[in-house]
Amino acid sequence: MANVHIKPIGLLDMLYFKSKKVKRDSIIDATAVKELKADYESNIKAHERHPGNQEFVIEDIIIRGRGDVRSYVLRKKDGTNPAFFRAGQFVVLRQMIDGKLICRPVTLSCGPSMTLEGKCMVTVKRVEPDGFLSGYIHDNWKIGDTIETSGPQGTFYYEGIRDAEKVIAVAGGSGITPVFSMACAIADGDEDFDLTVLYGSRTRDDVLFEEEFAEIMKKTGKVRVINVLSEEEDEGCEHGFITADLIRKYAGEGTFSVFAAGSKGMYDFLDGEAEKLGLKKKYYRKELYDNVSRPWEYEGYPMEAKDKTFNLKIKMCDKVFDIPCAANENIMVALERAGIAGPNRCRGGICGWCRSRLLEGTVFIPEETDGRRAKDKELGYIHPCASFATGNIYIEMPNRRN
Ligand code: FES
Repeated sequence: MANVHIKPIGLLDMLYFKSKKVKRDSIIDATAVKELKADYESNIKAHERHPGNQEFVIEDIIIRGRGDVRSYVLRKKDGTNPAFFRAGQFVVLRQMIDGKLICRPVTLSCGPSMTLEGKCMVTVKRVEPDGFLSGYIHDNWKIGDTIETSGPQGTFYYEGIRDAEKVIAVAGGSGITPVFSMACAIADGDEDFDLTVLYGSRTRDDVLFEEEFAEIMKKTGKVRVINVLSEEEDEGCEHGFITADLIRKYAGEGTFSVFAAGSKGMYDFLDGEAEKLGLKKKYYRKELYDNVSRPWEYEGYPMEAKDKTFNLKIKMCDKVFDIPCAANENIMVALERAGIAGPNRCRGGICGWCRSRLLEGTVFIPEETDGRRAKDKELGYIHPCASFATGNIYIEMPNRRN
């Protein structure tokens, strides 16, 4: 090993540094003042990849399933390509309804390569009676309309250094959309992992993307789809629920990850099955966006608050608003109903974009969707998209930003 001699800083070094400073200052003084460029190449590229806003024209509408699911093919309005994304990510739809800005995340239900043709696709299921925005979209969006979204968001995508090479995707109903996007990405060569999809539907008529999946399976041996029907039996399909035994049957030997995308009911069931499988935490991943409704279904909810309406005082910069806040809906929804557009993205308590301070009162936050940092919990910060008032509350929220 070489000997390293560290010389202590002496007087001569100090004089040397001092002379250097004089020289440096003279160079700075002699340099002509130039205006900063308005746009640096790196900033332009960063903006293209992570735009705050994207405007699209609806190019086509595809009706699926029993007619309660629609895919919207969207072409970028300015003729450029939409931001490239990771299969499984979502965008936030922004829609003005009766003068109020309503935002909801929706998965990009296409392969990322589609963006290279200037377009992408989102799929929306009409949700009754909770579908504040989905009903509006089904009833109003038509070909040729202009709509607005955020850039791609979310972390529900395959990551080679974290996930196993073999993935069992468990999808329920319209939860198939991020999984379909992953299958497209594998077929197009944008992702490289083995994907087995256990797709739970009530009947064969409820199955979505069946023809598209068949095309993908013809194109690549890395994707296979097994339909699991709960209310009927059909040739080539499994029958019943997606249990640990069924997952084991299709996973075979070796390590695998489970990616789950569906409703809270499905997750509650699957959590127990994942425990039976003895899956490490990192190998069990759930798509959680926009999944926080019906707080009384979560453990620890104070039932005496259910069905009540409280007062929500909210401070945003120099303005203070007083609005009603129903205990049964999250604080973000109460703000939207009052026409106040707060910052939001995932709407599942995870991304932290809506991080606000609880100044007075109490809220209920389901543990499953409590994505706050430990320090934030200590300092009284909440994520309003995943918090429910359990009494009168006062919060401080930053202004909306894209
Ligand atoms: S919008 Fe993501 S945590 Fe609230």
